[in-house]
Amino acid sequence: MATILSVATQKGGTGKSTTAINVACALETAGYRIKVVDTDPQVTFSKWFKQRRKSGRNGFDVVSIAKGFLAEELEAMRADPKLDMVIVDCPGNIEDITRAAVQLSDAVLSPLRPSAIDRMHSVDTARFIIDMRKAYPQLQFLLFINAAMRWNISKEAAETTRQILKNVEHTTVLKAEIPLTAAIAEFCDGGASIFEYAPGSASAKAYMKLTKEMIACLAAEK
Ligand SMILES: Nc1ncnc2c1ncn2[C@@H]1O[C@H](COP(=O)(O)OP(=O)(O)O)[C@@H](O)[C@H]1O
Ligand SMILES: [Mg+2]
Repeated sequence: MATILSVATQKGGTGKSTTAINVACALETAGYRIKVVDTDPQVTFSKWFKQRRKSGRNGFDVVSIAKGFLAEELEAMRADPKLDMVIVDCPGNIEDITRAAVQLSDAVLSPLRPSAIDRMHSVDTARFIIDMRKAYPQLQFLLFINAAMRWNISKEAAETTRQILKNVEHTTVLKAEIPLTAAIAEFCDGGASIFEYAPGSASAKAYMKLTKEMIACLAAEK
């Protein structure tokens, strides 16, 4: 049975596609048999993947999916013995597509941005997690800080989120954080991953660390 992991947040523009791309590449390098489902009408992941295929780089399977077929297709992928993990890149915010994807998932990976505006949405994020966990108790939520800076608000973001979510079961704010860097803003030209664009960089190491911690958390819940 493949694990279905949605990359989703209650707020738009937090780095979901950036996360999905680099975590997918890290998992593939680690030997995981993966497939990516792009549910975003903006098709960011699919556009990146098209460039990747053109460049002749190794790849995995990516499908762009219409909302109506989501459940059927995801269940078929879950049962596919040739797959270990299915990564679903969700649209900008909690629309119907995101809810549909999340409720069919085993786990949700959520990048959070450490800004005051994003912090204003933390109660909505918590409510979304609590509501979804109540309806779908199999769901595991893994959150992490994306685009971390040396500013105070950034340093406090993970701890603040941990406090808000401390009583919510199967919900973890990961220790790994992804920094705000030029390399992460630039890497995807030509279908590259951060590991190909800036090998050995702090950004590449941060994505490796995030992926390892995520795998450990998923394994711990099984
Ligand atoms: N850690 C980071 N450092 C620098 N830029 C980032 C980082 N994470 C995301 N971005 C940039 O933020 C914007 C939104 O990211 P994206 O992955 O498209 O978000 P989403 O899929 O949630 O809408 C993009 O321009 C992306 O390049
Ligand atoms: Mg996106």
